[in-house]
Amino acid sequence: MAFQWRFEERDRLSDNLGEMRRTHTCCELTGGDEGREVVLMGWVQRRRDHGGVIFVDLRDREGITQVVFNPAVDPDVHAKAHAIRNEYVLAVSGRVDRRPEGMTNPNLKTGEIEVTVTELKILNAAKTPPFLIEDGVDVSETIRLTHRHLDLRRPALQKNIITRHRASASVRNFLNGEGFLDIETPVLTRSTPEGARDYLVPSRIHPGRFYALPQSPQLFKQLLMISGFDRYYQIVRCFRDEDLRADRQPEFTQIDVEMSFVGEEDIMAMSERMMRRVFRDVLDIELTPPFPRLTYDDAMARYGLDRPDVRFGLELREISDIVEDSGFKLFSGVVKKGGIVKALNAKGCIDFSRKEIDDLTDFVAVYRAKGLAWIKVRPDSWQSPIAKFFTEAEKAALTERLDMQPGDLVFFVADQPKVVNDALGHLRNHLGKRLGLIDEDTFSFVWVTHFPLLGWDETLKRYEALHHPFTSPLEEDYDRLESDPLSVRSRAYDLVLNGSEIGGGSIRIHRREIQEKVLSALGMEKEAWEDKFGFLLSALDAGAPPHGGIAFGFDRLVMMLCGQSSIRDVIAFPKTQKAACLLTNAPSEATRAQLEELSIRVRILTEE
Ligand code: AMO
Ligand code: AMP
Repeated sequence: MAFQWRFEERDRLSDNLGEMRRTHTCCELTGGDEGREVVLMGWVQRRRDHGGVIFVDLRDREGITQVVFNPAVDPDVHAKAHAIRNEYVLAVSGRVDRRPEGMTNPNLKTGEIEVTVTELKILNAAKTPPFLIEDGVDVSETIRLTHRHLDLRRPALQKNIITRHRASASVRNFLNGEGFLDIETPVLTRSTPEGARDYLVPSRIHPGRFYALPQSPQLFKQLLMISGFDRYYQIVRCFRDEDLRADRQPEFTQIDVEMSFVGEEDIMAMSERMMRRVFRDVLDIELTPPFPRLTYDDAMARYGLDRPDVRFGLELREISDIVEDSGFKLFSGVVKKGGIVKALNAKGCIDFSRKEIDDLTDFVAVYRAKGLAWIKVRPDSWQSPIAKFFTEAEKAALTERLDMQPGDLVFFVADQPKVVNDALGHLRNHLGKRLGLIDEDTFSFVWVTHFPLLGWDETLKRYEALHHPFTSPLEEDYDRLESDPLSVRSRAYDLVLNGSEIGGGSIRIHRREIQEKVLSALGMEKEAWEDKFGFLLSALDAGAPPHGGIAFGFDRLVMMLCGQSSIRDVIAFPKTQKAACLLTNAPSEATRAQLEELSIRVRILTEE
């Protein structure tokens, strides 16, 4: 029967701590402590009544110890223990005893011993929790996030949050040791250009004006270099109003770094030393820098994505040149229109059924691929809806380029490069997982370098900065900034770990005239940039040193360190996919008085 909450009950049960002080955590007692008098405090994980003797698993953040209430030892304490329920808060003192023969629990660090209780204080009662506080409970994330304070009591989450602390301590130790200064930057600021939507905060003192929460401290850290601080870092919250995914939160944490008088090599080497230190401190794993590098062009050609998972093969190959005059009009037509055709050889997958192939076709459709052509390589023929269109010469060329051998299943997508790469890149990751090609225990870092400076935004019909507008173009590409902007490469680099972008940065522009050139290539009018970035431009005029930096997604890094697949599991109080906090019910409506003070009237346009 569920325990009914009554306030009188709590009053009756609640003892005060008094003089009692904890001597041990719930994980540290072993057989060697036999006979010791100890005091433990924690929560009731489980209570078992074994015909007279009551056993309680007492839990704190370190672990669990079994405590025993024996009527033969102390009848009063035993009688009091009858009131104990799950999640009650207890203080117990007693003697460490070895568990009797056959009763030890090898799965528990403290499994050799138990504490025979001689004094019990019930420090607080607890309502029956909405779910069991243990790992692997089958309960929806909505319920877990609504009761996050309880969810966080689960050992797995405690471990994640503790690992997060250890990672940040390791990062700080490392950066402090390398002479970096931890400097805070404003949270109430102006819009910063990382390409997402801003969170705005209305100003009471300036009616109709808004602060923006920083998408990153980008401009401030550059200003700090100009002010002469030379090496800056901050473990800092950033805010971006964008569509959320498993590895994206509206507020997230960066390890933000900036250095003066450096080039790419210095920043990459510093980052590698930092990763090495963190993995050693947190996981006791020795990484072996330097990490491999790929140019953006290579990454896209071979993996289809700018954050390639290099733990497995299944690389993509372009075959546009082979099929451009082919009888398969769909392929040749796409190539003639400036598109490309690429293929992925799923080695040994000839047994995929029609249904499985149809499912994969639906999978790539999410990335806007209009279809997924395929060929099954039989020992003496090709089985495929498109095989009949190819000449013998084309078949031979495909066989060689794609290393087609009996037993293989080859997939093709034809379209504009962006669609082809996106579709096959994600298909590759999907197949890698599904075929068990990924060793989940390895950490594969790769740098992606030489990103294009600009991209073309098809909806807005203008160029956009691929990293941010303060990223330096590669010097040898400067002179194409006006004539062929899309071909200009930048001095940006990303650090990718197991297919996730965990960091990104660049060498910055430190001369005003180049900065103005790039802003103008981005289609920005002089008045607009003076208004938005005037303070940066005049700072560049004030003797800006060459500088550059990087920011790591701390939540993503910790997610990797904890072997989790969602950053929500490594953030104490995360938001849902809909950017809500279920615990506090944020965002919430403002009161009339608050709005009046801000000179704001709310009219919700979508409801009209
Ligand atoms: P960037 O925008 O690449 O660079 O961000 C750096 C890193 O932050 C992480 N990240 C996120 N993590 C969780 N949720 C999000 N919504 C989110 N958005 C980004 C990623 C990413 O690699 N100022 C530049 C850095 C610089 O140039 O020095 C910047 O913010 O892991
Ligand atoms: P269809 O002629 O439309 O029946 O297409 C023949 C095969 O080509 C089917 O397997 C389609 O999935 C595939 N297909 C259609 N469009 C594309 C495309 N853009 N790229 C790759 N394959 C495609």
